[in-house]
Amino acid sequence: MQPQAMWSPENLRNPYPFYAALRESAPVHVLAAFGGTHAITRYDDIAPILKNPALFSSQRIAPGLHLPKEVGEQARRFFRAQNNLIASDPPQHTRLRTLVSKAFTPRRVAEMEPRIRAITRQLLESMLAHEEFDLMAELAVPLPVIVISEMLGVEPERRQDFKRWSDHVVQTVALSQGKLDPGPILQSLEQLHAYLEETIERRRREPQDDLISALVEAAEGFLEVEDLISFTRLLLVAGNETTTNLLGNALVSLLRAPSELARLQATPTLVPSAIEETLRYEGPVQSLMRMTTQDTQIAGHPIPEGTRLFLVLAAANRDPRRFKEPERFDITREDQGQLAFGHGVHFCLGAPLARLEARVALEELLPRVRQLAFASGQEHDIDWGESFLLRGPRRLRLRA
Ligand code: HEM
Repeated sequence: MQPQAMWSPENLRNPYPFYAALRESAPVHVLAAFGGTHAITRYDDIAPILKNPALFSSQRIAPGLHLPKEVGEQARRFFRAQNNLIASDPPQHTRLRTLVSKAFTPRRVAEMEPRIRAITRQLLESMLAHEEFDLMAELAVPLPVIVISEMLGVEPERRQDFKRWSDHVVQTVALSQGKLDPGPILQSLEQLHAYLEETIERRRREPQDDLISALVEAAEGFLEVEDLISFTRLLLVAGNETTTNLLGNALVSLLRAPSELARLQATPTLVPSAIEETLRYEGPVQSLMRMTTQDTQIAGHPIPEGTRLFLVLAAANRDPRRFKEPERFDITREDQGQLAFGHGVHFCLGAPLARLEARVALEELLPRVRQLAFASGQEHDIDWGESFLLRGPRRLRLRA
């Protein structure tokens, strides 16, 4: 498999035939022109890799990002292996995860439901005032940003700034492909850093009932301000575009399978299982990276120490050895164990929040739109963006 093939417009539109070809031809593919990265696509190979951080490291992979020099420094600060949850290995990871999960609890998330519903209703009211609308711009993009900024305790008058910074933090990763002007992104990273530093200091002096105060309290004596800033930025990178994509992907999948959409509208209690099926069938995070810490084997293939692994979750989630009729979008599917939120110690910390936002959004949207459809020309012309790591429509013009 060559990287050009991964990036080809055809694969970005529909990567699944390509994933299937990889998965069915061999368990391991060496990407010669991609620094010798090995692609792994089968469920039964990926799940145990994610369960074994001692052998398959997250920490070792982080410094390999190729970014423009100035942004590189900011990004390296962010990815500093020592203090970044997602880019650390046990025992450091265990310590960090314990601290942040004390603040980011399922209870705190569940308490957000009425507020998430109110925000969703407000967004829907304005979106559905028009017969035709872009679901991404009007609902899927703003919802997660508003929710996380309210949870963190960002003042309403700073939300616009926060949204811009958050978009730019996410784009840091795209910079490595050399397609964006680093100037505005660097400026946003600096402004966000200054804002968070000041807010953390303020909450330390005067705690409020918000996530930043809870983090400051949980981390007192263990983490420095820089570590808290790094974690807050991680929430933005890890939580916003992914949840946006989950909503977009759910709508695309439902509209492409009209009988499933009709079934869901008739039986709204199926919403949680429709969300699980979207995660399996059209996952927002298509692949993860790891690096081997010693010589090993995967499916009998020798893999040397220091090999980068490209774990294609989206291929594993359609592995016919694991899922019955994997190419069918079935909102009543009973097969469990999709890998869209990862697996093992790094399992997505924000999964309860993402599931809650997606559930509320579908519960509120579907009864209001009995005749939901793609706008003319949209079904076959979805812009899926340029990333092979994250998948979701950039725009989604619908009519109701
Ligand atoms: C980790 C996916 C939403 C915060 C992960 C991982 C995946 C993932 C695959 C594992 C990364 C790895 O093993 O290297 C998703 C998807 C989402 C979503 C598909 C939406 C549908 C969120 C949200 C938040 C969040 C809403 C928080 C606001 C995190 C954090 C980690 C993480 C902090 C790192 C956990 C650790 O390293 O221990 N996510 N995520 N995610 N996610 Fe999510």
